[in-house]
Amino acid sequence: MKFEWNKELETGIPALDLQHHGIFDRIANFFQKCDESEAEKEIIVLFDFLDSYTKKHFIYEENLQSYNNYPGLAQQQEQHALFLAELAEFRRTLETAGPTRELSLSIKGKLIRWLNHHIKNMDKQFVDFLKAKQG
Ligand SMILES: [Fe+2]
Ligand SMILES: [Fe+2]
Repeated sequence: MKFEWNKELETGIPALDLQHHGIFDRIANFFQKCDESEAEKEIIVLFDFLDSYTKKHFIYEENLQSYNNYPGLAQQQEQHALFLAELAEFRRTLETAGPTRELSLSIKGKLIRWLNHHIKNMDKQFVDFLKAKQG
């Protein structure tokens, strides 16, 4: 599966699209670095970025959902928390085993699957709810 931004990922809410796009661009850059065998230092930078940027994005999204009384909020919070827990697990592996190519590939696979699936399903369900609510 290619890891690049595409129209299917657009929700139609500019702030969400901008944040999702930002996450994709940064990760695409990381994969490019992996191909250039610079993964060891890049993986640390990626983790710092993911920690701060995705946490901010999740908080933004959850606040928007809460403000709009979205019934799927708890499910979103649960999925966001799972993603952050996975990242924390990757970080522990990174700290104990060091930045290996195997870890980079496993992170890459995980991020591609999770982001594609989450945005296209859960985030879009929220946007559909918002559009229906706003008429
Ligand atoms: Fe989300
Ligand atoms: Fe999102």
